[in-house]
Amino acid sequence: MGREVLACENLCVGHGGRAIMSDVSFSLEHGRILAVVGPSGCGKSTLMRALSGLDEPVSGRSTLLGQDLAVATAGEREDTLRRLGFLFQGSALFSSLTLRENVELPIREFLSPPRRELRQLAEYKLALVGLSDAMDKLPSEISGGMAKRAALARALALDPEVLFLDEPGAGLDPVTASRMDELILRVREAFGTTIVMVSHEVPSILRTADYCVYLDTDTGRMGAYGPPRDLLTSDAHPRARAFFSQTHRT
Ligand SMILES: Nc1ncnc2c1ncn2[C@@H]1O[C@H](COP(=O)(O)OP(=O)(O)O)[C@@H](O)[C@H]1O
Ligand SMILES: [Mg+2]
Repeated sequence: MGREVLACENLCVGHGGRAIMSDVSFSLEHGRILAVVGPSGCGKSTLMRALSGLDEPVSGRSTLLGQDLAVATAGEREDTLRRLGFLFQGSALFSSLTLRENVELPIREFLSPPRRELRQLAEYKLALVGLSDAMDKLPSEISGGMAKRAALARALALDPEVLFLDEPGAGLDPVTASRMDELILRVREAFGTTIVMVSHEVPSILRTADYCVYLDTDTGRMGAYGPPRDLLTSDAHPRARAFFSQTHRT
């Protein structure tokens, strides 16, 4: 513990060289859960893609699993990517594949284990998210909450050291969303996974996150960094506090 997994300094992210969010600086230790927080359109997904090395930042630097992404070669970037898991907004399961086949896909691609072992690895991950009874169903045959859990199982397929989750609770009813939060906490407990989670849902953030990066749309800069309870109660960051208390009442 105490190992730094992710860090950035004056990171500026955007699209096509145009800045959306600047001054992002923080560091995250192994096994912690970080929430990237802020209103819709403020740049949360954009920041997540830059932090994970999927997209280049506009400027500034960040390190992930000890790799400085600004100077990494394509090969080094790929090696780092192999140690990450992703759940993108909207789950993005392959619609023609069963849940089991969806989870088997990354395992087959990277490890190509014997058939029986492949099945066992996929079944284990699906059992972990409570989908043992639905493994042979197609994505069209399951609920939104089940699809999110299946996407989480797929993100866990290769035992990632860092998990990037983009709005894991979006579109779920409050009960199903809170079940997803419990699952995220269980994953961290079971595997010690470091988790970066994009969210604009305050109850979920308060339940799961150790730290929060609050992105301030008014200034286009990181507005605050700290434990969510601190941001909810501190006078130091009025807009972060307003964001937390406004949605917290619902
Ligand atoms: N691929 C893209 N190309 C250009 N602009 C984009 C792209 N993706 C998102 N944007 C813009 O960047 C801003 C931030 O988007 P995003 O990071 O998705 O916000 P959030 O995840 O916080 O809702 C928005 O104004 C959005 O329209
Ligand atoms: Mg987004």
